[in-house]
Amino acid sequence: MATDPLQKNAAAASEAVVPVDTSKDDGRPLVRFDKVVKRYGDHVVLDQLDFTVERGEHVTLIGPSGSGKTTILRLLMTLERVSDGVIWINGEPLTHTRAADGSLKPASEKQLRVARRRIGMVFQQFNLFPNMKVLQNITEAPVNVLGMDRDKAETRARELLDLVGLSGKVDAHPSQLSGGQQQRVAIARALAMEPEILLLDEVTSALDPELVAGVLELLSDIARNTDITMLCVTHEMNFARDVSEKVLMFDAGRVVESGSPEKIFSDPSHERTREFLNAVL
Ligand SMILES: Nc1ncnc2c1ncn2[C@@H]1O[C@H](COP(=O)(O)OP(=O)(O)OP(=O)(O)O)[C@@H](O)[C@H]1O
Ligand SMILES: [Mg+2]
Repeated sequence: MATDPLQKNAAAASEAVVPVDTSKDDGRPLVRFDKVVKRYGDHVVLDQLDFTVERGEHVTLIGPSGSGKTTILRLLMTLERVSDGVIWINGEPLTHTRAADGSLKPASEKQLRVARRRIGMVFQQFNLFPNMKVLQNITEAPVNVLGMDRDKAETRARELLDLVGLSGKVDAHPSQLSGGQQQRVAIARALAMEPEILLLDEVTSALDPELVAGVLELLSDIARNTDITMLCVTHEMNFARDVSEKVLMFDAGRVVESGSPEKIFSDPSHERTREFLNAVL
């Protein structure tokens, strides 16, 4: 089971896996979307979107297909560029560079590459490197992107595999693992970069039903036992209720409403939210 190794390593996890620098905690939100617009051609996907995420908060994004949830995560991961507006991390522009005169200019590719290191993402399709063993899947980015010493990266990778309950699979190839196991490796790989923020995009929706609970349990444990900030797109409403302090309901590229899971799931204010929840629950 995932829980045991995690609980065993909970103290180590909060030290080694997620080093939260409280000196940066100056009361500013960790993430701020400031009138963010994303267009593809004439199609406005995000429409002057404003929202914030506090450090350590676990936020669930819900909303109908096409409402822009994945786009939000891809913008944060700097896999896409904003069409307008600014994303701020810790009071610093993620999407922009501050010029000498104080104005904001779109960030260079180099700046985005550096920014990307602070954020980890786990996708619906696990996207493991098929030609690499499990251990190397996890050490690849710390060694090649962060310049971490290989021995140190391997030690940490083994700790993380223990954390996700897969210490026996160090030498396996992804094709030799179940979907749930591959997703656990993907989670370990994201954590190996010691991200400040973990983005999760429907990480259980490609899994066979019997594998879903184990992965959700692992994520709940990470949410409970570490200080990592999580932004999670999911249709698993029980999970959302369990781990998140805030739910944001999106429709047509805007926040329709936000609040505690209790409020949003039991007593939503907007008809659009009621319709959506009726359709998914
Ligand atoms: N690369 C792209 N080029 C053109 N349009 C795109 C691109 N990526 C996304 N879109 C459009 O942006 C809108 C939002 O897509 P997004 O994937 O963010 O939705 P979503 O809320 O994640 O939906 P789902 O619940 O189905 O995953 C959709 O209408 C989609 O067609
Ligand atoms: Mg999506």
